[in-house]
Amino acid sequence: MSGPRRIWLTGASSGLGYELALQLLSQGHRLAVSARTLEPLQALELRFPGQVLLVPGDLADAQQVREIGMRIKQAWGAVDQVILNAGTCEYIDVRQFEAAMIERVVKANLFASAYCVEAALPLLRKGDQPHLVGVASAVTFLPLTRSEAYGASKAGVRYLYESLRVDLAAEGIDVTVISPGFVKTPLTDRNDFAMPMMWTAQKAADHIAARLHKRPMEIAFPWPFITFLRTLACLPRRLSLHLTKRMVRDNSKESGQA
Ligand SMILES: NC(=O)c1ccc[n+]([C@@H]2O[C@H](COP(=O)([O-])OP(=O)(O)OC[C@H]3O[C@@H](n4cnc5c(N)ncnc54)[C@H](OP(=O)(O)O)[C@@H]3O)[C@@H](O)[C@H]2O)c1
Repeated sequence: MSGPRRIWLTGASSGLGYELALQLLSQGHRLAVSARTLEPLQALELRFPGQVLLVPGDLADAQQVREIGMRIKQAWGAVDQVILNAGTCEYIDVRQFEAAMIERVVKANLFASAYCVEAALPLLRKGDQPHLVGVASAVTFLPLTRSEAYGASKAGVRYLYESLRVDLAAEGIDVTVISPGFVKTPLTDRNDFAMPMMWTAQKAADHIAARLHKRPMEIAFPWPFITFLRTLACLPRRLSLHLTKRMVRDNSKESGQA
């Protein structure tokens, strides 16, 4: 696939999304960039004049996402690729299980993805070799400690895209799921525990950008971490539980994971 493409990238203000924006803009693509924080998006516009369309907003707000879709339609008429990367993370303390946290995280990750898909599909249908890309997480390969909210939201995100892949195949819209392990970003900077095999955001963005044009079904990294999780998930369930239980830590401290 050659030539500049029209891409809508969410979560472009920080971390993985910001690095991915730099990569894609350096490759000459045109980017519609979304996030709530405007300044980093404006910095991208300044650095790559004429390539950036600013479409900020809260993606957990269905109406704001509809308006973003309308702004992209007015500016470009279509998109060739949509990368739904925006997301957040909160961790459960099971001694004070709070359903409201599940609601917040599922809204920010799963519902927001659904609002974006609703806005994106009409634009992709008019695009050239349309490609829908969603960022899930390595957590979807194995239920992990404290991940009840984040894991449930990302498992939902994975199912959403994999189901869409089946239904959109006839229209020629390919769907890629990205499953990062630990990546150093403001999201993981909050964590106070060891994060094995962590990549920099730039390395993760390079890895993704180098593969997107091949339109794979999955981009999961780093492979030793993914293999570790998948192997644990394939073990007999009692053995898998025995091993994953050992990852449980002192719940009185703040923590998180990929
Ligand atoms: N870092 C990791 O280890 C890791 C591992 C697996 C998966 N992931 C996934 O990778 C994606 C990027 O994460 P990151 O690590 O780069 O985190 P990050 O630095 O916190 O970036 C998250 C991005 O999402 C945007 N965002 C969050 N909620 C939003 C909302 N309601 N409306 C609009 N934009 C919103 C943020 O922008 P504003 O705050 O400006 O709105 C920001 O641009 C997420 O989906 C995350 O779950 C990360």
